[in-house]
Amino acid sequence: MSRTLHLNAFLMSTGHHEASWRLPESDPLAHMDVEHYIRLAQIAERGLFDSIFFADSPVLEAEPGQRPTGKLEPTILLTAAALRTSRIGLIATASTSYNDPYNLARRFASVDWVSGGRVGWNIVTTAGADAARNFGLDDVPDHRLRYEKAAEFVDVSTKLWDSWDDDAYVGDKQIGIHSDPDKVHQFDHAGEFFRVAGPLNVPRSPQAYPVLVQAGSSEDGKGFAARYAEAVFTAQQTLDDGKAFYTDLKDRARRLGRDPEAVKILPGIVPVIGDTEAHARELDEELANLILPDYQRRNLAERFNLPVEALDLDGQLPEDLPLEDDIQDAKSRFTLIVNLARRERLTVRELIARLGGGRGHRTFAGTAEQVADTIQEWFVSGAADGFNIMPAVLPSGLETFVDQVVPILQQRGLFRTEYESTTLRGHYGLARPENQFTVAESAIAR
Ligand SMILES: Cc1cc2nc3c(=O)[nH]c(=O)nc-3n(C[C@H](O)[C@H](O)[C@H](O)COP(=O)(O)O)c2cc1C
Repeated sequence: MSRTLHLNAFLMSTGHHEASWRLPESDPLAHMDVEHYIRLAQIAERGLFDSIFFADSPVLEAEPGQRPTGKLEPTILLTAAALRTSRIGLIATASTSYNDPYNLARRFASVDWVSGGRVGWNIVTTAGADAARNFGLDDVPDHRLRYEKAAEFVDVSTKLWDSWDDDAYVGDKQIGIHSDPDKVHQFDHAGEFFRVAGPLNVPRSPQAYPVLVQAGSSEDGKGFAARYAEAVFTAQQTLDDGKAFYTDLKDRARRLGRDPEAVKILPGIVPVIGDTEAHARELDEELANLILPDYQRRNLAERFNLPVEALDLDGQLPEDLPLEDDIQDAKSRFTLIVNLARRERLTVRELIARLGGGRGHRTFAGTAEQVADTIQEWFVSGAADGFNIMPAVLPSGLETFVDQVVPILQQRGLFRTEYESTTLRGHYGLARPENQFTVAESAIAR
């Protein structure tokens, strides 16, 4: 079978553009409206997307005065969406720094049962001191330590998901045996960060595990992705950077003995679609003109560890910025933003406009045909297995993509014309994981 695209709809309140809530068409309270998200999931399912995705962080992320802020917990949104859709995959972010494996493994296993095998987990380590301060810490834990903890978190989670054999259920009403206790495993994990006895209080779910997704692109982030991730979300501004990232990550996975095909790489794109290229640019400019630059200047200063006065809106970035090594928050995004500003000699105001669409993800303004062209170019030239579609404005941007871009991709044989599977693993062409306890037992028996 020829290789086809994977499309994930990254959903965010009124859209990914910073100023989308200020458009006449937008409902500024959409972020608190479950029906809004269900409708988006249904539009994406109509477009045969592999999945929808909700980002998250356990902190109030934006200044409440300047934009809608606060959001519903994403696995709850997924559960609601699961009941009103039937095929589309459902991915949510959850932090390994500020959760416990038992509770989180249980939550994802539950959504996998509720959705009939459609859940995915975007594993993040959570940048930012403000989130740390909600969990008894004064500052964000060291970057490397966060990834070490994330690795143990996932190891424990997979033990929990495997703690029931698939055939543990007996269901013999006659003699009164519900499940076979020999097929339910206590494992007594004792590691550096966690002690968990197991077993999980949820039997092995339809997909066995949620699809494991990862979204950090620092050295540690890529190491983690190569070991665990089955899908990788990434922000890449240029085709060359996209290709380099793609090759690097697939090589790392191969070196760890994994099949590189089993790691799907999805860069983000913020499509702004117009009837003509000029119309698309007008829409992009209309949005850029609604950005509040002072607010974004404060955000940038925080990201760069600088006082806000160090950023002159009409000047370029200062020469003496910190190095990526000095950044404990989101390392790869820091580097991407600095490189973008320097490469294109942007003023701070221009940089803010460029980041307004997708916070560092590539914004592309053009016709549906041109959007399909760029997607195809990245896909065929080894920079992507698919895309994270991040509409600037929701729901209209997703509707336009589904109605205008998807048919072009289908005509070109690049995208499915019907769902061929009922699970998220199936959509992404990923195998259902073997059970580590069953495998270990059969090795002993041999
Ligand atoms: C598409 C995408 C979605 C992301 N979603 C989240 C999120 O929901 N929560 C979060 O804390 N970080 C999120 N991130 C950020 C990454 O997980 C990571 O923290 C960041 O890229 C920095 O990682 P690094 O230091 O390894 O580069 C996302 C990144 C990308 C590319």
